[in-house]
Amino acid sequence: MQVSVNSIGLQNWEGSVLLIGLLEGDHKNQLKGLEQLTEKDFLLNALIKNNFTGKSGEIISFQLLNGNSEKLVIVGLGKPEKLLIEDIRQAASIGARASIGSSGKIGVMFPWEQFDASTVGKVVIEAIRLSLFKDQRFRSNPEPIKSPSQIELIGIPQSNNNFIQETNPICSGVELARELVGAPPNDLTPKELANQALKVAKEFNLESKILNKEECQEKRMGSYLAVSKGSDLEPQFIHLTYKPKGTVQNRIAIIGKGLTFDSGGYNLKVGAAQIEKMKYDMGGSAAVIGTARAIGELQPPNVEIHFIVAACENMVNGSALHPGDIITASNGKTIEVNNTDAEGRLTLADALVYASELNPDSIVDLATLTGACVIALGDEIAGLWTENDHLANALEKAAASVGEGIWRMPMRSSYKKGLKSMLADIQNTGPRAGGSITAALFLKEFVNESIPWAHIDIAGTCWTDKDNGINPSGATGYGVRTLVEWVCHQNENI
Ligand code: BES
Ligand code: MG
Ligand code: ZN
Repeated sequence: MQVSVNSIGLQNWEGSVLLIGLLEGDHKNQLKGLEQLTEKDFLLNALIKNNFTGKSGEIISFQLLNGNSEKLVIVGLGKPEKLLIEDIRQAASIGARASIGSSGKIGVMFPWEQFDASTVGKVVIEAIRLSLFKDQRFRSNPEPIKSPSQIELIGIPQSNNNFIQETNPICSGVELARELVGAPPNDLTPKELANQALKVAKEFNLESKILNKEECQEKRMGSYLAVSKGSDLEPQFIHLTYKPKGTVQNRIAIIGKGLTFDSGGYNLKVGAAQIEKMKYDMGGSAAVIGTARAIGELQPPNVEIHFIVAACENMVNGSALHPGDIITASNGKTIEVNNTDAEGRLTLADALVYASELNPDSIVDLATLTGACVIALGDEIAGLWTENDHLANALEKAAASVGEGIWRMPMRSSYKKGLKSMLADIQNTGPRAGGSITAALFLKEFVNESIPWAHIDIAGTCWTDKDNGINPSGATGYGVRTLVEWVCHQNENI
């Protein structure tokens, strides 16, 4: 998406759609400059006639017959004293949807000065681009959808426009994550996920390493490999590295669950478990690879980042994991598999050991790990588990600033009793109640205790069935924007 800034204002503005964010209150003053597009007082009268007051979420549009643009869309932002950055994001997204049908340039005029102009500008650009995303890769005849391909921010002060360069890489990362999650499991296999990661590495000069099954065997990743045994498709352990130019002050590892399909294994998903949705069980890996793409282009200084995915499928065949098997992870811990459908944590166990061996300053994993987290928090809020308050605050702050929902959950150590195995060191599932907490406690067993670590359960947020603001229904790309924000502010977090 081409983005530009026009610090002059509306004079002689040309483009196909004009999107105005209007606060409640003095409309006349806010609409100054628009007179040239319409008959005198036409707009103000039309707003009054249609009872448009500027409440948050309100929208009205006009076809323009004179002037150089086709359509004028006005979205309400609510009361100025109550304005939140989220209102701006929602309004820009509603406006963007209303612009579908027009191609060319969308001009946007929002009250930039309500926050700082670069904050509002960034939010508006992201909201417009991400709201217009539509995945048509799998249609034989893609619908010809007209939507704007250029954004012009009108009347924004020219002082600090660096934010514009950041928005496109971030949106490309989110879109890549959405495409990876949206792709069906016969297309996005573990091998294809690895290929996509390699493509990103090549394009943005990241180091890359893909370990095959034998190499994972050499590393004794018995937990991860046990999950992949039931599939005809080989596991692919993906590791990309971003190294900054100049000095490294901080090293981080980001891990994503990468089950390109989760049938449940012999504990097959039946009934309400929605087996047909389980292509999105690689949402964590999509967030990680999407972030790698964004970071590769943004090139933040001073931070080295490892992107890790233990990719495979959870399927059934004659050599699949049996419920009851005892397996050994790469840190030597033995695991009794009392449920083959709790496979994500088995793959993450070896990925966490691998990441710990890199000895980073912090580790974050993202995983579509538990249905229990979906029940607890729904599809707009991810669960966050960590014993490190500093890391929790940094991730919460990053998520809040990009508008992704996150909620810190308790790491209740007494619940670990639920994972006691009669025979092995640990079993992979505990009681149904508190299922996402025991999942986090299971993961903890595979992280080097001295490294700050956070686990984010995105089972609910990686996909939405409703049209949700900047997320059209389907894959959301959840996590990319939070991770990029967190990574790019590492220097402040030291
Ligand atoms: N991939 C699922 C979790 C999931 C459920 C993701 C719903 C998205 C939506 C995970 O592998 C799983 O099957 N978890 C089980 C764990 C249980 C057996 C302890 C679950 O949540 O039911
Ligand atoms: Mg499962
Ligand atoms: Zn799963």
